[in-house]
Amino acid sequence: MEDIISLCKRRGFVFPGSDVYGGMAGTWDFGPLGVMLKKKIMDEWWKFFVEKRDDMYGVDAAILMNPRTWEASGHVATFADPLVECKECKSRFRADKIADGITESVTTDEFLALHVKCPVCGKENWGPIRKFNMMFATHVGAVLPEDVSEGTDAAAKSVAYLRPETAQGIFTNYKNVVDTIYPSLPFGLAQQGKAFRNEISPRDFILRDRECSQMEIEYFVAPETWEENFEKMRELQHEFLTRVMGLPEAAIHELEVPAEDRAHYSKRTIDFMFDYPNGQEELMGLAYRTDFDLTNIQRESGKSMEYRDKVTGATFVPHVIEPSIGVERLFLAVMTTAYHEDEVNGEKRVVLKLPENLAPYRFCVSPLLKNKPELVEKAREVYAKLREKYVNVTWDDSGNIGKRYRKQDEIGTPKCVVVDFDTLADDTVTVRERDTTEQTRVKISDL
Ligand code: GAP
Repeated sequence: MEDIISLCKRRGFVFPGSDVYGGMAGTWDFGPLGVMLKKKIMDEWWKFFVEKRDDMYGVDAAILMNPRTWEASGHVATFADPLVECKECKSRFRADKIADGITESVTTDEFLALHVKCPVCGKENWGPIRKFNMMFATHVGAVLPEDVSEGTDAAAKSVAYLRPETAQGIFTNYKNVVDTIYPSLPFGLAQQGKAFRNEISPRDFILRDRECSQMEIEYFVAPETWEENFEKMRELQHEFLTRVMGLPEAAIHELEVPAEDRAHYSKRTIDFMFDYPNGQEELMGLAYRTDFDLTNIQRESGKSMEYRDKVTGATFVPHVIEPSIGVERLFLAVMTTAYHEDEVNGEKRVVLKLPENLAPYRFCVSPLLKNKPELVEKAREVYAKLREKYVNVTWDDSGNIGKRYRKQDEIGTPKCVVVDFDTLADDTVTVRERDTTEQTRVKISDL
């Protein structure tokens, strides 16, 4: 993990959030290379789950939502982690993260029976387990700081939450979508966007953040068909993760989540665990949310969420299958899979073996020597041609050719194209492959 974190910072993939001010726990910023990789991951997901399918549509809802959303969804009442405080040093922890063999539903007695020592002061003197709601609250409208500190009516009435999942922006738009485009059932609504959680202990680099990006689908189905659709959605996730993202199947492990650990809305959940450098962690979840959300919205809003079957005319509230994945966790899974160290000509090399569809740059073009104007001019020509076709092409004439290769290996560029003196004579270039370091001569017109 340390090697990946160091590469991410060194090469401009991921920086600590607000780095210049000493950082801010649980926040991370994507640099120039990171943005390119993240965007490609998100675009591939969108292409695979939305654009290439007839049964999926996109939405892009506001992050700030009417607070009734979070009452109806159950998040105000139940979106909480078990918080425990050390009475000696006053440090606070998420109980299930400092003891083995317990889950989010741990009780005070169960926790105390484990005789856990405080990770900060080493003592064993715990307060009771309290439920800590993870939603970030804010105030919307003309609310003064004194309203908030004095707890006035204006402050209470203005409370809104930063969304802790993108899913609710989909559920609240379900009726608008049905009323406007009336898709045939089953159909899915997909959304990508930021989600915010006041995690008690953000950790493991970008795995547990206070601000993350989610990619979620709510797939609406006839109630009696949920199991078959759940299976289809499960297979689709594997196909996307392995074929499109290039993750090894052997590193993905399905975990059937027991009832007591499932989110309040779920009747069945499979967590897709991934072998990260620090051990197995949840990469994504697949949940059967039943009609929980739509019936809650129906009750809270007084508006019907029923769907009218196009063939039979029967009306019912659809049930929902939800695959949900965090972009940062997928980003780290892709990085973990790609990161390799090997030896080239007796020298240690770090190489990111990213799939071609994800690599920030497809090609790097350079002149063998940068002080030979005829080589630079020819190389610029090749660069312009490739750029027109592939967009993500980079130019590099820094240092010597060996150093350029090392740099491009570290940022995962699959092919380096080098213009040399032979190019001027026969219009061929050297194409050097990232993974094998093999070099071949290729005609410019065949690139
Ligand atoms: N709408 C369902 C939902 O939000 P979840 O299991 O709480 O379910 C779904 O989150 C996914 O979002 C997780 O599997 C993970 O990939 C990502 N995620 C959740 N919390 C995260 C956090 N604090 N930091 C990074 N990613 C997170």
